[in-house]
Amino acid sequence: MTGNMSAQGANNPEIITWNNKYNTGINTIDSQHRQLISLTNDLYHACIVKNDELFTTFKDAMGKMVEYVNFHFNVEIKLMKAINYPNLAEHKKMHAELIEDIIQAANDFKEGKKYVANKFVHTLVDWICSHIAFYDKQYTLFILDQKKKGLLTDQKVNELLS
Ligand SMILES: [Fe+2]
Ligand SMILES: [Fe+2]
Repeated sequence: MTGNMSAQGANNPEIITWNNKYNTGINTIDSQHRQLISLTNDLYHACIVKNDELFTTFKDAMGKMVEYVNFHFNVEIKLMKAINYPNLAEHKKMHAELIEDIIQAANDFKEGKKYVANKFVHTLVDWICSHIAFYDKQYTLFILDQKKKGLLTDQKVNELLS
């Protein structure tokens, strides 16, 4: 069995799965959200590995998560700025709060509070579920509305996302 195959299956349950309620109708954003969900599952799997491997696997998974969250948030904020999204400031604040939580969890973990890892992943799942399903939906609905009014096109949105 290959390493990849053994990483899947009943011994590696997912803590969060893609749900159609997360669909925004903007492909690039949806695939980035799928990636976020996949990285969250990796973090969860990192929490349930054997104790002697916990530190390295969690640290690696956390590093990837931080990098991707930053990338994704930058994409969203750039897009919202370009379309003059009215709730930009509020949205930006929520992103900043999550980044702070992630950094805090990473620091706590470094200090040896292992239980933080599992608790943090659960917090992350709650945040991702509600943020994508509600707040990201708000700006993507705004985009769909602008498109309906002829103020934005798919081409323009894709340009802004490239
Ligand atoms: Fe998002
Ligand atoms: Fe967002």
